[in-house]
Amino acid sequence: MDKIVSLSRRRGFVFPSSEIYGGIGSTYDYGHYGVLMKNNIRSLWFESMVRERDDIVALDSAIILNPRVWEASGHVAGFTDPLVDCRTCKLRFRADHLADSECGRRPSKRPGEHTECDLTEARQFNLMFQTQVGALEGEGSLAYLRPETAQGIFVNFKNVLQLARRKPPFGIAQVGKSFRNEITPGNFLFRMREFEQMEMEFFVPPDEADQWFHYWVDARYRWYTDLGLRESHLRKREHDESERSHYSSATTDLEYLYPIGWSELEGVANRGEYDLTQHTQSSGTKLEYVGPDGERYTPHVIEPAVSIDRILLAFLVDGYDEEVVAERQRTVLRLHPLVAPVKAAILPLIGKSDEMVSRARGLYEELRKRHAVEYDDGGAIGRRYRRQDEIGTPFAFTIDEQTLEESTVTVRDRDSLAQERLPIDGVRAWLDDALERPWKSPKES
Ligand code: GAP
Repeated sequence: MDKIVSLSRRRGFVFPSSEIYGGIGSTYDYGHYGVLMKNNIRSLWFESMVRERDDIVALDSAIILNPRVWEASGHVAGFTDPLVDCRTCKLRFRADHLADSECGRRPSKRPGEHTECDLTEARQFNLMFQTQVGALEGEGSLAYLRPETAQGIFVNFKNVLQLARRKPPFGIAQVGKSFRNEITPGNFLFRMREFEQMEMEFFVPPDEADQWFHYWVDARYRWYTDLGLRESHLRKREHDESERSHYSSATTDLEYLYPIGWSELEGVANRGEYDLTQHTQSSGTKLEYVGPDGERYTPHVIEPAVSIDRILLAFLVDGYDEEVVAERQRTVLRLHPLVAPVKAAILPLIGKSDEMVSRARGLYEELRKRHAVEYDDGGAIGRRYRRQDEIGTPFAFTIDEQTLEESTVTVRDRDSLAQERLPIDGVRAWLDDALERPWKSPKES
């Protein structure tokens, strides 16, 4: 994980938030390449969830909802983790994670194991951030930052059913920030206090729920492997009854082998009729489907839920590689070309050659209309290649003497380092085509 954190910092993917003030626990800011990569992940998810389907529509609900939403959903009463404080070192720990936590005293031990440890009894700590709405403080103005995007979808069920003229099975997809006051955050982007969720609630006739649950587990698994995540590092794990959330009758996690061990990348849950029933009871608005022939039922919900941050971390971990080439160490991010922040670099071999610069800039202007590409004429060509390798750029087009003579360029492949020559006029079509080709990680033996 240290290598991933260091590369992310060095190449401007991710910075600790408000760093000049010492940061703020487990909150991160994304720099240029991080933003480009997040945008790619978000669009690929949206493409597969909404654009390529007839049965899912998009929604963008507010972050701050009427607080009664969170009472009805069960979050006010139950979205808690058991917390213990140490009266000696003043640190706080999740009571159910003591075996994985470190006491503040040295030599480091588990909380409670050091002679000076003085732990309180466990108490339930609500993970929702509270805020005030309006100028007056007090009971009536209390509100919460949403801890999941899902509830914004459930409370809009009736709107979408009517206005988008859908009938089950159909889904509503939403992407947006969620907030959790995690007790033991950490492990970089894996557990943050502010993260960007991508959730889709799929409303189905009750007797089809099991079948759709398996459908979505498989579909989401395939989405990752199609984007080149190594199958050796991805697995499905069913929750047993004791692990499942209060609303879930079945949950399968897609787990990735992060440096911290196998951990949840995405969860797929069968939420049954829990949420629509709760909001019907609490709001008095019936959230049900009524068919043209009068049949009525409360749909069951299948939910694939993930954060962009955990996906981005999985791709960084999966892609990170080091090798020695021509006696020099090379660090390379082997990312799927569709995930990579920059698709191609355009490099004049000699940065001081006006002719090469002019041909390279011409190609750059042509390609940037369609793709995120980068022009670089600073420093030795080897160093420029290495900079692109570190941010995962799959292709580099180099303009050299031969380009000036016969209008061809070399294209260098990030993974194989193979080089081939192409007519400069054909580069645009070649790149369009290359980005569509299936890609498999060379790290998967
Ligand atoms: N609506 C269901 C729900 O929110 P969850 O398992 O609590 O379920 C869903 O969260 C997904 O959101 C997780 O699988 C993970 O990808 C992401 N996630 C949850 N907490 C996170 C955190 N603190 N930091 C980053 N991502 C998080």
